[in-house]
Amino acid sequence: MANVYGKGLEYEKPPFTFHSTEWEGLARDRMSKNSLGYVCGNASTGETDRKNRAAFQKWSIVPRRLVKTTTFPSLETHLLGQTLPVPIAIAPVGVQRIFNPDGEIASAAAAASENVPYIFSSASASTLEDVAKANGNGTRWFQLYWPGNEHNDLTASILKRAKANGFSTLFVTLDTYKLGWRPSDLDNAYNPFLRPDSIGAALGYSDPVFRRQFKEKHGKEIEEDLQNAAKEWITRIFPDFSHGWEDLAFLRKHWDGPIVLKGIQSVQDAKMAVEHGMDGIVVSNHGGRQQDGGPASIDCLERISKAVGSKIDLLFDSGVRCGSDIAKALALGAKMVLIGRPYVYGLVLGGQDGVSHVLRSLLGELTMDLHLGGIPSISEKHLNIDCLEYSEC
Ligand code: FNR
Repeated sequence: MANVYGKGLEYEKPPFTFHSTEWEGLARDRMSKNSLGYVCGNASTGETDRKNRAAFQKWSIVPRRLVKTTTFPSLETHLLGQTLPVPIAIAPVGVQRIFNPDGEIASAAAAASENVPYIFSSASASTLEDVAKANGNGTRWFQLYWPGNEHNDLTASILKRAKANGFSTLFVTLDTYKLGWRPSDLDNAYNPFLRPDSIGAALGYSDPVFRRQFKEKHGKEIEEDLQNAAKEWITRIFPDFSHGWEDLAFLRKHWDGPIVLKGIQSVQDAKMAVEHGMDGIVVSNHGGRQQDGGPASIDCLERISKAVGSKIDLLFDSGVRCGSDIAKALALGAKMVLIGRPYVYGLVLGGQDGVSHVLRSLLGELTMDLHLGGIPSISEKHLNIDCLEYSEC
């Protein structure tokens, strides 16, 4: 921010435009058909994704005037027992090497350089150990695609590695026990997890428990039979609907730190998360990639915030594309907003620098949206539903 406004026009030119609305279009021109279908594709007709976007426009930030201030608004946020300098995080996105050869290594390094927490996906194309190295002293969290109860030993092994490598919070994704009905990938006959090199299996292939199980069953190392190894890993991380609320006790026992459930949309489930002692929830519909015909995620946030906002930390994603989207989600009760596709477009367009540019731009926009709205900080006292006006447009 200060780089752009404080130095007049003498700031270092970014790798691509500041127009956040143009990032997707620019990235589309640079991707293969398969990668494009994978990142831009949605469930079925794309209705949920369209609703995610459209619903933001029903909320307006109504600016206040003559609010005396000489500094930019504070973006500091408090959640999960931590104070963090900015209220955005890198959403977990798998198989990032299909977007850039450096994949997660580039995005984790960018996150650290911008002081933005990084959420590692269980479907990453890089090992958690390598990502931790690239992320250095950054804040990093771990997203689990949760193997079925018959593989609790594998889950425990993965959690232990994550903790040992500095991932401090566990995110459990609950909306992806099976991949959604995604026509783009179906038309392309494309599943990055089942490519011969199974690019999304780094977590499994580097895990001692998974390696041992594979050898016991097939009598050979993973590297000698990648096709079968890929198939087996996919059944571990997308294990059908094998868990109930009571199984969260296992994760609590094996994870010494905050646990956040990702993919909550209903008030009932939000209340269940509170009852089961969870530390946070991500109100998310996976960017409309899983279930078609669902509600806009920001509308769910409003309802969930009213019902349980004072009892559990709320995080939010799905459809966030610019600074004012972030401001609206914060005003509706989120303490942190996860950035998904926009940083993937940055990765496509400029690797680590591209991701940094996206994060900086979003934070710059957010800062100006608040500043111009007379909102001195993102604390609930200053930024809340009273800053917004709702209208069916
Ligand atoms: C995702 N998302 C996701 N979520 C998760 O928990 N684990 C994962 O491995 C992935 N992988 C993934 C890949 C790609 C290509 C995308 C676009 C998304 C979902 C992600 O964390 C987030 O919920 C959505 O991206 C939010 O929607 P928008 O804002 O990107 O539309």
